[in-house]
Amino acid sequence: MASWDGNAKLPGLQHSRSSDSYSQNSGSQSHLFSQYCQPYFLRALDCVISTFLEQNDKTSYNACGEAKPCRKSPLQLRIADYGSSFGPTALEHATIGLRSVIAAKSSLKLCEKIEIQWMFCDLPGNDFNALFRSFRPEGPQLQHIVKVITEGVEGYGVKAFAAAVPGSFYSRVLQENSLHFATCTFSLHWLSQVPEDLLDKNSKSWNGGHIWIDSNRPEVLAAYVRQFQQDAKRFLQCRLEEMVEGGILFIAALSRKLSQTSPETDMEFKMFWEDVLQCCWKEMVDEGIIGEQEMDMFNYPFFNLHPSELQTVMDDLENALEVLTLELLEDCLVLPVDVHKNLMSNVEAFAEMNTKRMAALTKPLLRDYLGESRTEDFFRRFHRKTIDKIDRLRHGECSLPSVQIVIAILRKLKQ
Ligand SMILES: C[S@@+](CC[C@H](N)C(=O)[O-])C[C@H]1O[C@@H](n2cnc3c(N)ncnc32)[C@H](O)[C@@H]1O
Repeated sequence: MASWDGNAKLPGLQHSRSSDSYSQNSGSQSHLFSQYCQPYFLRALDCVISTFLEQNDKTSYNACGEAKPCRKSPLQLRIADYGSSFGPTALEHATIGLRSVIAAKSSLKLCEKIEIQWMFCDLPGNDFNALFRSFRPEGPQLQHIVKVITEGVEGYGVKAFAAAVPGSFYSRVLQENSLHFATCTFSLHWLSQVPEDLLDKNSKSWNGGHIWIDSNRPEVLAAYVRQFQQDAKRFLQCRLEEMVEGGILFIAALSRKLSQTSPETDMEFKMFWEDVLQCCWKEMVDEGIIGEQEMDMFNYPFFNLHPSELQTVMDDLENALEVLTLELLEDCLVLPVDVHKNLMSNVEAFAEMNTKRMAALTKPLLRDYLGESRTEDFFRRFHRKTIDKIDRLRHGECSLPSVQIVIAILRKLKQ
């Protein structure tokens, strides 16, 4: 399969206007972020704010500690959201970030004006126009959010600007030493490419007849781990170059409890990725709709990491980075309890939600490979097979818990 860097075909998310788009089906990511990850995100951002704003503001006092007149040029804070997408989560994260800077400016009694550049970075196929259209009242700027946050308060002196940065986060997309805070949420599970060994008949990791990790085949998992580590190293190296010293990178990502895939701990993945997706492919091959070879040559470039796999990569970069936080959040509910309960009592609504969620993430990839009509056929089957699974969910065999990892990484100051 082609790499997602350079000129290769770049899969993205479902188009903004379709009912199975990410913007209309990102409720679980939004819930996971606000319920579990947000405190870590804010702690990392607060750390950056106090390093750069408070420190810079001190320079506006003279040697005797007397306040000097505020500088004419404002303090500048540059923040990038890697894999922002165009859904409401991108805007939610920017709003939370701006709120935090404004609160800090007020509590630290900073006299300087502050300008924030918020950069939305994603693959070129991302619907940046939809994202910018969702800013109200109009235009690609965030200033009205600042106005809403500071409504009724005069003289806040905070300005915010938005920019789109198209490109793969597995390459450099911003200038060296330019970034104070980087955030990447629920995006690092997309690898830069399918691990090559999976497609090589002579390799131990040859994955013919399968389309993802099979928990009975550790060699396949090992190939995914190797690809992930190569990608993660590249990702971290690029961010370390882009961030200023003292800058912080925040990551929230899908994770696993155990370093080996385990049906008991990774139930959602076992059920929907390893089982339902695999069954749909197999069924279409058995019916002659998809060729056997076509299935052999397709694998999802999707990987939910285990902390130990990332730790190895960070150890290699220990001269440049310091890990401030690394926590595994186990048993996170992907939906609020009442929403989950309602869905469990309505088979059709559950299947529709689950199918749209999967389509939002993987439809463009499948459409590129199978074409429009076979892809539609595929998701009809996925919907039907999801209904077959609901009894297991209802009987408490699994409650769709999910495991997240949150990480904050500092770019060390040079000694
Ligand atoms: C599931 S969405 C997450 C969106 C958002 N960050 C959130 O928290 O809801 C994953 C995003 O990562 C983007 N993505 C995947 N691979 C990428 C890459 N190599 N470079 C940049 N963005 C990428 C996808 O296009 C998609 O918009």
